[in-house]
Amino acid sequence: MALRKIVIEGDPILRKKARALEKVSDKEREIFLDMLDTMREADGVGLAAPQVGLLKQMIVVEASDPDDIEKAKEEDREPLKLLYFLANPEIIEEEGCQEGVEGCLSVPGFVGTVKRPMKIKVKALDYHGEPVEIEVDRFLAVAISHEMDHLRGVLFTDKASDVKEEEYEDSIHGDS
Ligand code: NI
Repeated sequence: MALRKIVIEGDPILRKKARALEKVSDKEREIFLDMLDTMREADGVGLAAPQVGLLKQMIVVEASDPDDIEKAKEEDREPLKLLYFLANPEIIEEEGCQEGVEGCLSVPGFVGTVKRPMKIKVKALDYHGEPVEIEVDRFLAVAISHEMDHLRGVLFTDKASDVKEEEYEDSIHGDS
């Protein structure tokens, strides 16, 4: 695995549409792992391929399992993390609404309040190129839909009701 450079807002690549993959080959798996490395190094919870300069429909999300957060608190441990490698993701169902504070590794130093669906069902190809359907809710739905926006050139700042400079206490969920 290798670190890649994260593209910052102002670079036109962040505003372009990513292309669908024909298949997930070894080359894409290497990109997935590099994206994971890069995201972890930057303390992020998600990363989309355009953020490392590649117009491919690929996202990585790694975040706490919302179902384990309360239990982990009771047991005084870190919550379990869930990791998703998704290529060609498409939202096929969505439900409800939630609003929360988001940041983005490509928009460092800023946060904003964004409305997202509470629950989404996503069809995609996984790390092995196998078709998968996943259902996620709460923060995982936020993170995955934030990353999917990157694939069509949309940043959270386009959707946020307010964008302000980040203060320490705003960093609830980490950037994606
Ligand atoms: Ni982002």
